Amino acid sequence: FDKARLLIEPSDTLSALQEAAELLKNTNEPVAFPTETVYGLGADARKTDAAYSIYRTKNRPADNPLIVHIASLDQLRRLISKSQPLKSKDIGSPNESLIPQVYQPLIDRFWPGPLSILLPIENHEHPPVSPIVTVNQPTFAVRMPQHPVALALIALSDVPLAAPSANASTRPSPTQAKHVYNDLQGKIPLILDGGPCGVGLESTVVNGLCDPPVVLRPGGVSLEQIQNCGGVWVNTQVYKPTSVNTEKNYIPQTPGMKYRHYSPTAKVMLFSGYKECEAMDCLYDQLKKQNMDKDEARIGVLCSKKWKRGVFGEFSNLTFLDLGEEGSEITKNLFAHLRELDLKGVDFVLVEGVAEDNEGLAIMNRLSKAASMVFTKDFLN
Ligand code: TXA
Ligand code: MG
Repeated sequence: FDKARLLIEPSDTLSALQEAAELLKNTNEPVAFPTETVYGLGADARKTDAAYSIYRTKNRPADNPLIVHIASLDQLRRLISKSQPLKSKDIGSPNESLIPQVYQPLIDRFWPGPLSILLPIENHEHPPVSPIVTVNQPTFAVRMPQHPVALALIALSDVPLAAPSANASTRPSPTQAKHVYNDLQGKIPLILDGGPCGVGLESTVVNGLCDPPVVLRPGGVSLEQIQNCGGVWVNTQVYKPTSVNTEKNYIPQTPGMKYRHYSPTAKVMLFSGYKECEAMDCLYDQLKKQNMDKDEARIGVLCSKKWKRGVFGEFSNLTFLDLGEEGSEITKNLFAHLRELDLKGVDFVLVEGVAEDNEGLAIMNRLSKAASMVFTKDFLN
């Protein structure tokens, strides 16, 4: 596509949204748009050819299902009720009982926002979205994003958008329009530029259809925030199946989680509870193993709370970036900083990990997926 471009003039907003909406309604080409979490690559979730073009554009494995984005509960109800078996459609108001009760407190509290829920597909002969979107699973994932451009685009087109993150597969998720441009330039007709994403990492994916209900992917809403809404929600990543003996308890699959993600080209060394000098010793070991001279090696450092630049001064080829102190600052910077180090062509990235509570759980989840080496000590304080 020659016309792939960024739309950055605020005065262009309405015409850009209209152009994007027309593309979504009339073609199978995916459009990139901002959400509060990361940029998405969206196409009509009901159309198989449109959904397929998303996988092709990103080079995404075909067994990793997509999240469907809606702008209102009314739009979601219309989508679901179209695929309901006739008898239940006829009973009372179609607006009731289509969304399982277990999600009600979460929807009240977090929509619009960075939370995706799994809904059952009741009628497999007339599924609400293309089987390409769900990868033939009995459920589909939905979220109502908070970003005004995302909401406007979905409402204006009235198209439920299947949208994964708008990066090329295995690259860090894009949190700025230029990241999308770098990855997908020439492959998509339009990128809507809504500025940097406020949250910076992907939505939390939950499954309330099993017992106990589970958090499948930690993200923009923390496990603590979900638990505060009531109910016993467990994190699949720390949840041990051996401690469970009833038939109803099972570990649901999150197909996407098996893939290595967010990988910059450099070797990422992730440290938990390590001081700078201890991390440097580990780096020296690696340099020795690879026969690299410390003055040749290009080193990137991502610090969070405690690491200081000074200690790394003995490396002449150093890029030192500050992720921030607060969890929400770190989530906002994380992917952009990984991309920046990648552009610098660093050989090694040393990352100061964070405690795995609140935003920390999702941050460490993404960092471990980017890391080729993880060094863990318990946090001392
Ligand atoms: O914040 C986000 O969620 C972003 C923005 C664009 O909304 N989207 C995003 O999509 O991160 P993606 O494709 O990168 O991640 C979708 C995740 C995958 O881990 C996938 O396995 C899971 O959602 N998922 C989708 N449908 C599912 C289903 N039916 N069952 C289990 N997991 C599902
Ligand atoms: Mg993704």
